[in-house]
Amino acid sequence: MRILLAAFVMLSAGVQAQAPAADAVERGRYLTAAGSCKHCHTAEGGAAFAGGVAFTTDFGVVYSTNITPDPTTGIGGWSFEQFARAMREGVSADGTKLYPVFPYPSFTKVNDDDLRDIFAYLQTVAPAAKAAPANDMGFPYSQRSLMGVWNALYLDNQRYAPDASQSPEWNRGAYLVQGLSHCGSCHTPRNMLGAEKQDLALSGGTYYDEVAPNLIRPWSAVNLTSAKDGLAAWSMEDIYDYLRTGHSATAGTFGPMNAVITENTSKLTDGDVRAMAVYLKSLPPIERAPKHEMNPADFRAGELLYTIHCGTCHLPTGLGDPSIGPALAGSSVVQAEDPASLINSIIYGATVATPAPPGAWDNMEAFGDKLDDDEIALLSTYMRANWGNRGGRVTEADVAKQR
Ligand code: HEC
Ligand code: HEC
Ligand code: HEC
Repeated sequence: MRILLAAFVMLSAGVQAQAPAADAVERGRYLTAAGSCKHCHTAEGGAAFAGGVAFTTDFGVVYSTNITPDPTTGIGGWSFEQFARAMREGVSADGTKLYPVFPYPSFTKVNDDDLRDIFAYLQTVAPAAKAAPANDMGFPYSQRSLMGVWNALYLDNQRYAPDASQSPEWNRGAYLVQGLSHCGSCHTPRNMLGAEKQDLALSGGTYYDEVAPNLIRPWSAVNLTSAKDGLAAWSMEDIYDYLRTGHSATAGTFGPMNAVITENTSKLTDGDVRAMAVYLKSLPPIERAPKHEMNPADFRAGELLYTIHCGTCHLPTGLGDPSIGPALAGSSVVQAEDPASLINSIIYGATVATPAPPGAWDNMEAFGDKLDDDEIALLSTYMRANWGNRGGRVTEADVAKQR
């Protein structure tokens, strides 16, 4: 009887406090991983979800905000409706318009139930009092009111609509990739005003991130369609392994994908990762990289550099070795229309995610001190014109931009 009474008191206390149901909170925690919320909203050494991470864009630097339940600097005083408006329309509780570096153009696809669970979970994290630093945006982009025009032009404020001709698994993958997991925010090219070009969705974009401590440079996020310069060489299983662990027969992770894998896709269920792979594998090819013919003298010079510096690990055939290093023949990083990530991997090396996934290769050393810009340009062009790869010429200026 006493136990029953205690249970009753606890139950009514729970109802009084309007505490969200435990399973909703647990689902919300899972969904925030699928949305990388914590990754973008937690500064190094700072409280979880308290914001303050700097994001470099073509238009200036934007800091993520505090989304803990702190009532003054966080979202503690927000209603669910205010939260939903921020997530779907990019408008803060006080009416301030937000910048799309916060991926609300993707989050707008997330359904009501998932959004409610995310909100429920965020209300349970430890509140931290910390205001976001002031942004550093150039004029006219510093005028947030302009985002009203931007939203009218580019925001498609619609929930994900399942495609009845596809399986539930495919639809689950599409829902995650296009919506909550916002792969397109890096992997889709953007127009002059920073909006994703929907006709070229997932065919390769650019993202600013560290190449070395405190050094921010562009990275090309590769073509994820089944194009030759995309994931044509990847099986469904390769995509699944890579997203689940950060290592596959085709590639290992480095650069900005390290955090996508450690903070997001590796925390998802097998079923969700498989659904993403099924959806990605189904994307019709959008070829972005042109075929490039090298003159024979440049080809030989590039081949010589490759043989001296790279061939021992990636092999003369470019096919790599399961125990030494990945294939460069068919690599989407090598062939990407924008060579930024290829150049970064040569100048700064490739550092595997921590903790290293099972079967991962070692880190690749940096060649930035050993090779000049013209040598890196020649070597890169050689790899893009050889082994059946395709990709335009890489110039010395392209390399200089990444230093
Ligand atoms: C790519 C990084 C990134 C990711 C991922 C991200 N955010 Fe943000 N978020 C930002 C930035 C940057 C801002 C500030 C935008 C601005 O000031 O215009 C922001 C703003 C917000 C705001 C508005 C807060 C306010 O005070 O107006 C909310 C709410 C929010 N994010 C919630 C989330 C949730 C929930 C998730 C996960 C589902 C998430 N964010 C994932 C970068 C991100
Ligand atoms: C923060 C930006 C960003 C986000 C978000 C992002 N990616 Fe990437 N991705 C990159 C960059 C940059 C590269 C190329 C360099 C590297 O591997 O880091 C890449 C590479 C890849 C590769 C190819 C790896 C290789 O070595 O060939 C795959 C596959 C991939 N991403 C899948 C995804 C999927 C699926 C999602 C969504 C769950 C996603 N990415 C989200 C930036 C991003
Ligand atoms: C000692 C062995 C070694 C040498 C030498 C080496 N690499 Fe690598 N390389 C690797 C390993 C290991 C990785 C995978 C690292 C990871 O998983 O993050 C890699 C990754 C890469 C990638 C990313 C491929 C992809 O699709 O994700 C490129 C591009 C690359 N190397 C180019 C080069 C070039 C160009 C040279 C010569 C200048 C070179 N490597 C020399 C071992 C080596």
